[in-house]
This record gives sequence, C-alpha cells and structure tokens, in this order.
Amino acid sequence: MAITYTPECRQFKLDAKDTSYIFIERDGFLLHLYWGAKLSDCDCSYMFREQGRAAFSPRMENCGGFILDDVPLEYPAWGRGDMRSPALEVINADGSDICDLRYKCHKIIKGKPRIPGLPSTYVESDDECDTLVVTLRDDVTGVEADLYYCVYGELGVITRYTALRNTGKESVNIAKIASASVDFDNIRYDVISNFGTHCRERNIERTPLHHGDYVMDVRRGASSHVHNPFIILCDHTADETSGNVYGMMLAYSGSFTARASANQFDTARVQIGLNEREFGWKLGSGETFYAPEAIMCCTTKGFDEFSYRLHTLLRTRMCRGKYRDVRRPVLLNSWEACYFSFDVERLKKIGAACADLGFELMVIDDGWFGKRDTDNCSLGDWVVDKKKFPNGLHEISDFLAERGVGLGIWFEPEMISPDSDLYRAHPDWCIHIDGRPRSEGRNQLILDLGRQEVCDYLYDSISAILRDGSIKYVKWDFNRNMTEVGSAALPADRQKETTHRCYLGLYSLLERLTNDYKDVLFESCSGGGGRFDAGMLYYMPQVWTSDNSDAIERLRIQYGTSLCYPMSAMSAHVSASPNHQTAHVTPYETRLTVALTGSFGFELDPTEMPDDERNRVTDSINLFKEYGDVLQKGRYHRLRNPHDETCAAWCTVSHDKKVCIAGYVLTHVRMYGNNERVALRGLEPKAKYKEKFTGAVYTGEQLMNFGFHAPTTLEYRSILCIFEQI
Ligand code: DGJ
Repeated sequence: MAITYTPECRQFKLDAKDTSYIFIERDGFLLHLYWGAKLSDCDCSYMFREQGRAAFSPRMENCGGFILDDVPLEYPAWGRGDMRSPALEVINADGSDICDLRYKCHKIIKGKPRIPGLPSTYVESDDECDTLVVTLRDDVTGVEADLYYCVYGELGVITRYTALRNTGKESVNIAKIASASVDFDNIRYDVISNFGTHCRERNIERTPLHHGDYVMDVRRGASSHVHNPFIILCDHTADETSGNVYGMMLAYSGSFTARASANQFDTARVQIGLNEREFGWKLGSGETFYAPEAIMCCTTKGFDEFSYRLHTLLRTRMCRGKYRDVRRPVLLNSWEACYFSFDVERLKKIGAACADLGFELMVIDDGWFGKRDTDNCSLGDWVVDKKKFPNGLHEISDFLAERGVGLGIWFEPEMISPDSDLYRAHPDWCIHIDGRPRSEGRNQLILDLGRQEVCDYLYDSISAILRDGSIKYVKWDFNRNMTEVGSAALPADRQKETTHRCYLGLYSLLERLTNDYKDVLFESCSGGGGRFDAGMLYYMPQVWTSDNSDAIERLRIQYGTSLCYPMSAMSAHVSASPNHQTAHVTPYETRLTVALTGSFGFELDPTEMPDDERNRVTDSINLFKEYGDVLQKGRYHRLRNPHDETCAAWCTVSHDKKVCIAGYVLTHVRMYGNNERVALRGLEPKAKYKEKFTGAVYTGEQLMNFGFHAPTTLEYRSILCIFEQI
C-alpha cells in the first residue's frame, strides 16, 4: 500500500515512488508535516513544531489551543484564525463566512474513483493507485469536505481534489475552493510559472519567493495563453539534474488561481484551484460539489525528472482513447496554405499532392461551413458551404480516401457569430448580461454551454458531420476570452456559476463525442496554446501548441511547454519560409527538426513549395513514420535553453535506450563563437551508438560527457542526429 495510517500517532503517510507526503491529525485539524525524499515508516509527529508565535493572531483557547495562523494546515478553511490564504471559504445561510472543518473519519481504498463530470487522471488497474479520503466536518452548518489523495506509487505523483457536501438544511455559497493547498515550513524557494500571450506562450518565469502573494489570477474563461495552470516551488539551486522541485497542476481548462504566499512567520503556502474571483457556487441541502483535480509532483532530482513524471502521467493516465499509444498520423493542415480562400477544386490539388508525398491526413481548417469567407460570420452554423463544396464534403473525402489519405476538419463549437442563423434563432444562447453590450472578440460571442439545449444542439450538429465516418480528425478551436459573463438560464444568485457550468457542459459534450466517435482523432486548439491544459488532454491527446509556427519562436514555446507537458501532446508543423507570423527565413531542415515532436505535420501548400523542399517532404514523413513512436513515448531531455542561450538543444531517448533523437538549433551567431557541442542525457554509458546520417560511432559515455559537435556559423542552422545502439 502506498498509503499508511498509524493510529498511535494519527499519522497519514503517502509514498509516491521515492517521495513521501506526511500529515497528522491533532484536535481535529490536519497538520502538514513533510513532503520530500521518501522516509521509512515511522512516527514523524515530532516534525510538528508549535512555536506559539501569536503576534496578533488569536489562540483557540477552547479548541486545543492552536494559534491557527502559525500551524501548517492540510486544508485551511476561513474563519477560525488562520489569516493566510484559505483553501475553502463559504458564505453560510446566516451571512457568516466561517467554516470550522474538523476530522470526522477517513478511509483508504484501492484504485481511484472517477470525479463526476470532470476530467481526471485514471487507472487501468486498481493496483496502480491507492486513494485516501479524509472527511472533515463543520458541525454547525453540516458542511463536509472529503479530501481525496490519490497516490500513483510507481509514477511518483499524488493527485488531490475536494468534494464538498452540504448535509445541513440550508444552502451555503462556496466563495473559494482550492483543489490543493500545501504548507512549507520555510520560504527558501524559487517559484516558477509560465507567462505569455497568443503566439508567445509558455515562457518560464523563475523568481525567489518574496513575502506576500505570488498569484496567477487567470480570469479569462480559458486556461493558458497568459499563464498555465501550474505552479512550482524549487530550491534556489535546483537545475535540470539536481535539487528539490515541488509542482502543482490543475486539470482544468477555464479560469484558475495559482498562488504561492510567503507569510509573516516565514512559512510558505502554495495553492491551486478554480479562480478565486470568477467562481461562486450555491450548494443546496444534500448537494455535493466536486473541485477539479490537482496533480502534485515532487522530486529531489531536478526539473528533468520532474518533467518526466508529469509527462508519463499525462501521456498514459490522462490522455485516453485509440490514439493515446499509437503513432499519430502525419497531417497537412490547410490554414496557412489557404486561410479562407479555397474550394473543392483547390483542395483536390493539395490533396493529390498530399497523397503523392505520403501524408496520412489532410485537414480542412476554418472556412468550410456556413458562408464563411472571412472570420466575421457563421460560427454555429455547422453545415457545409455549398458554394465551396457543391456536392458536399464527400467529394473531397472520397477523393482523398481513394488515394489513402484521411480527411480532417476544423470546428469552433463553443462560439457563435452574431451573423449566423443560430444567433438569429437563439440570441440568448450566448454568454451575456441583459441590458449590456455584448463585446465581440474576433467578431464572435461565446455560447452558454451550461445550458443542456446548447450542448445538445452542438452534439447534433457535429454528429451530423461525423456520423458517416468519413472524417478522421477534428481540430477543436476556441478563439476569444470571456467577457460580460452571465447566463440567461441562471437566477441572479447563481450567476457566479456561469463559467464553471460552461466547462461542465463542455466536458460532458466532449465525453459524449469522444465516446461516440472513438476512431476520430481530436486535437485541441485555442488560438494555438490558449487551452494547453491537462483537462483538455483527457479528451484530446494533442494540442496545436501555438499559432506561431515559426521554428525559431517555437523553440522557446516548446521548451516552456515541455516543463509540464509531454511531446506527444505538442503538435508542431513545418510551415512556409518566410514564416507567416514573423517573416523569419529558416532553412527547411531547421523547420523539420523543430517540428519533429510527438505529433507532426505540415502547414503550407505543397503545390507551391520550392522543388528542393518538396523533394524532401517524403523523406521527412518517412522519418516520422519510423521514429514517431520514440518521439511520442520516449524520455524527453531539455539540453540547452533558448531563453538564455544563443542556441537550443534537446533529445528524446527510447525507454530501452537503444535510440536517441537529438536536435540543435543555432539561434544567434556570435563572432568567433565557442566550440559548441551538445552533451546528451539518458543513454547507456557503455553502449556504442551509430549516428544515422553520418555513420559516426560514439559510446554513450562520450555522448553524455563530451557530446557531439554542433554548428557555430549560419544563423538558424540546425542539426538533427539519430543515434542508434549497435
Ligand atoms: C486559430 C487556430 O489556432 C489556427 O490554427 C486556425 O485554426 C484559426 N484559428 C482558424 O480560424
């Protein structure tokens, strides 16, 4: 069992691989003791140190005498004296905001229960995970919190979530509910997060923890252009291969708050959960609310190991379905090839080239439905544009099928254009507040997926396109943030539930669609990486990483994304040069090297490629067909950091260490630059490796300790090496 409870000292100990997470119960409070390198089973209660630092913080005289403001709490609720950021805050029927949660009982179960209505990690056999459920109760209101701790012993990960139950007679309002909260007994840490924007996602910010709050307050109704739903604390000295790293990630696609606070007594608290200001929920008598799952990972071995654990968990126990483990099909996407300007004849020309070149899928992006020749209309009207496809989509899907190429298609189901038949019929189906203007983003509004009839409409219209099986892939887009958040279907005292209800609606719709169309590969997109989160990965195993398809820019974006997310989830495409976003002129081999992630494709018109490039496409596709499995499932190592250095380098090593695919890109030439070489990680030291393109032979220890020579001249030059054990 990965979880032990020792009644003599009322201690809970959770062992995840080589780490332990420990807390005790005293006077009804759960006191956090330890998270770090694995400890043998023993009484750790001495770790609780009650210093009695009162300052101005009251002592609970009649409740065991804790100064709650000065003890490490496992799930702090607001109102009894802990003045730090609470995990739970409720407004009771009498208007008070107190919740005095005390231990009631606990149970340890094999396996992992599913969280109703929400995406979450899962098990394939009950042996993979043990779950601890600790129930806390406020006797005055009857509010009960079930704290779930799911321990993936082998994978080295613990997940947490809270189920809040109202056993009282009156409704209560949940004002804040964090999915995880962890107290640290000092503040000698750096905090790491992602920041960015559309086309510049997931830069890494690292800063020492300061007194006060470091908060990522994402209130946009979408998880991740600006920040990503995770937060990391690490030793000041932690690097790729050493140091303590503690991370929390939220499996959720909407607004969230991640917070690291350094408090008055030099202790730290880290939390993640639904956005603290965007969310509210009226919990009626007898009802239960489930908070999204938080994924927690700790390692003593630096960021490489941290990423590996999250990659493995997300790839194998968050992603689901037919495409989870199979090499992903190589696709050509029409967006940067045609934008809105295509018809069936143009697509046939591109499709014929796709077939000749060896593509497995051709995707028709935005513009195939309604009367959509630009981005100002038709979202919601998911019927084929007869002007572009007089004989329907079958003409192109049959044409491709005869040539062995599958057809993929773009949808943006959660949106509605004011200029659409759907809007004319149902102007109240969008998120809005009566009597106020409806702000448009990209000429569109957002549908209220909290309404069942809206989800049913979407299910029916998407099904009408997917039902006959001719569509093999769906790109699911989401291209604006939420404003004027309100639902015509909810009473005034439930308006704060709107965005979360939209996500519950989205998740239930995706559950239906992915269940009913199991053969379809779904790819998530939100203007690129606006919803690159674990929640979407539950339904769609890959994400269009960024609308920025420039190989040089992608180096940084993919580097930052790799901190938490696996390569199998990162879609990357070879696009045209000069690049459409940045105008960078980049050699073909560099665009290829960077696009060779676990999910590979092209984003250009093959009929317009220069001959010397088109002649290389088939070899590139074959390379992915041969090594895609390693790229998708191998262990990924960040070797050089493009944010700080004048180059980027990385490698992916197969689990048997027999194959290693390494990439290097020179991003800036320095005159008389140094002797650039790239040292690898993760190889078999004594084994011999032959490089595929040069035939050069090295030992694993040579490659790991000295490395291979990399180019130092010609900006944007790259080198792709494939080392195979001989
Ligand atoms: C944003 C996406 O990220 C692009 O790839 C493309 O699908 C456009 N939307 C289409 O409108």
